[in-house]
Amino acid sequence: MRKLLPVASCLIFGACWGAPSNTTNWVDTLDTHTFALPGQVRSKHLDLNLNLDFDQKVATGSVTHHLVRTDRSAPFIVDTSELSILAVTDQNGQDLIWDLAPDAGEWRGRPLTIELGENTDKVKIQYQTSPHAEAMQWLSPEQTNGKKKPFLFTQGQAILTRSWIPLQDSPAVRVTWNARVTAPAGMTTVMSADYRKRKMSHTMFQMTRPVPSYLIALACGELTSRPISGRCAVWAEPGIVDKAATELDDLERMVLACEDLFGPYRWGRYDVLFLPPSFPFGGMENPCMTFATPTILAGDKSLVSLIAHELAHSWSGNLVTNATWRDFWLNEGFTVYLEQRIMEHVYGKDRALMEIALGMQGLQKELTELPEADQVLHIDLTDRNPDDGMTAIAYDKGAAFLRRLEQVYGRKRMDKFLREWFNEHAFQSLTTSTFLDFLDKRLIASDSELAKQIDVKDWVTGFGLPSDAPIPDSERFAAVDAAVAAFLGGTTAAELGTDDWVTQQWLRFLSGVKKPSQEQMAALDKAFGLTRSGNSEVLSAWLAIATRNNYAAANARLDLFLMTVGRRKFLVPLYQALLEADNGKIRANAIYKRARMRYHAVSQRTLDAMLGHKPGE
Ligand code: BES
Ligand code: ZN
Repeated sequence: MRKLLPVASCLIFGACWGAPSNTTNWVDTLDTHTFALPGQVRSKHLDLNLNLDFDQKVATGSVTHHLVRTDRSAPFIVDTSELSILAVTDQNGQDLIWDLAPDAGEWRGRPLTIELGENTDKVKIQYQTSPHAEAMQWLSPEQTNGKKKPFLFTQGQAILTRSWIPLQDSPAVRVTWNARVTAPAGMTTVMSADYRKRKMSHTMFQMTRPVPSYLIALACGELTSRPISGRCAVWAEPGIVDKAATELDDLERMVLACEDLFGPYRWGRYDVLFLPPSFPFGGMENPCMTFATPTILAGDKSLVSLIAHELAHSWSGNLVTNATWRDFWLNEGFTVYLEQRIMEHVYGKDRALMEIALGMQGLQKELTELPEADQVLHIDLTDRNPDDGMTAIAYDKGAAFLRRLEQVYGRKRMDKFLREWFNEHAFQSLTTSTFLDFLDKRLIASDSELAKQIDVKDWVTGFGLPSDAPIPDSERFAAVDAAVAAFLGGTTAAELGTDDWVTQQWLRFLSGVKKPSQEQMAALDKAFGLTRSGNSEVLSAWLAIATRNNYAAANARLDLFLMTVGRRKFLVPLYQALLEADNGKIRANAIYKRARMRYHAVSQRTLDAMLGHKPGE
């Protein structure tokens, strides 16, 4: 993106990009997804003051940046997207000269360049967000569980925070922050902060640990909480909070497991907030308060690995952060590995093995669909939306790499290695090359015989899945695979011996029944009530099969699902299944026309491209 700057400014600013600060090598961390030049002027703290207007769907207020000025002649550049800038002043309230460049296209937004006076050390930007701010989803009361109050949540990752706060929107820039948020009476505001204080009309928040911009988050609605332990609570709308608290009964046990494995939890509280079902992701690891989809509330804790995942980010991602989006696998690959270790610790080896096997199955499928260049852990995302890197490569290939290291070096050395990685880099943003240096020094160089067993370069820069990738054997899955074969061979549904199957086994089963006949689908549905399933993973897997194979008895359930759930991971395969069904394109477009406005911008972007939806349609 830097090359989009006018040539003159490149000449002026470019030479200074490399100025190193104490902890960060800014040359190495060249982030192509920001206009900010933190090597020259960096924001280290921000004070946010916002008023939420649910009628207009805008937030109005200010952010004050506290600056570190390495190059005294350089301006302060922040990212913005669809923001109206109202005024820019210094610590004395004096107006500063600023320029908001034209939109740079697609995901880039508009750089706001602010000239600094000789002694300027704080910059206050007054602004208003757009009702279409990509990071903010404003929900109507009808889209909530209670149906009475509207709801707002923000989603910053990867580069959407710039649409609700003008700031240096790069994961390499860490800030501490305070916030003061005013919301209508009867609404509760929460943020990803380690401290909060409620006043009459506003709530104050404080984050004393330096975090990257994508981890600043807010939600506001009719919310209440239930304690799980001294430091853990579950937040949700009143109608689902008890169900949510029961489901997350093991929350404190998960935190203890992770501390046991990887060192102390350093963020004070660990709460989980359940959002309305339009939330585009399964979960988002906002510090101190994970944001989660209510679709994991299956009633039997069978989908809680998602919480283990978001919790694990408190180490891999939030404590040690990817410095640029091409290093995203450092966040997600590590986190999937940690998630699997937490699951094993709390729920046992069987469960963990099944979940790993399902992950590897998903990865192998995605490998058949992705271009080779995108099968690389250290992916090149220059001039691309960082969202393009959110594939099973970063997640499951990343985790497989760590599992392979564990296999070669043994669990004991692996755990020590990971604990040191987190402890020695706490609150830093790091690149792949820093990790590779650390790996080399702490593991590879320590044992030349073992080093021969793994080709690190191939894992990080090669495409495909290295042949030494560990793929676990699961006895429980062997039983399922036998049942799939029996069913396809004519054994009746009732005789398959499914009584003690858990969710993961059902998912494996459904992945095996690819092209069932109408009779087979009707028999499965009758025996196992799949169309009525209250487990969103099982239901969505079933609906995809049913839809693709024109099983009309599932149509109404599919419509309802697509009208209420906005989680992209479910929407994509379901719309894909529709496109493959008879008359499916017409149906897909008809449903999408009604449902689109209920989806978050992130899901809309993906589905617009998939369905050929043009703006304004
Ligand atoms: N940090 C991600 C979500 C994310 C990634 C949002 C990139 C925007 C850009 C989160 O931790 C995540 O990975 N969520 C997964 C669930 C997980 C169990 C794999 C999801 O939402 O599906
Ligand atoms: Zn994640």
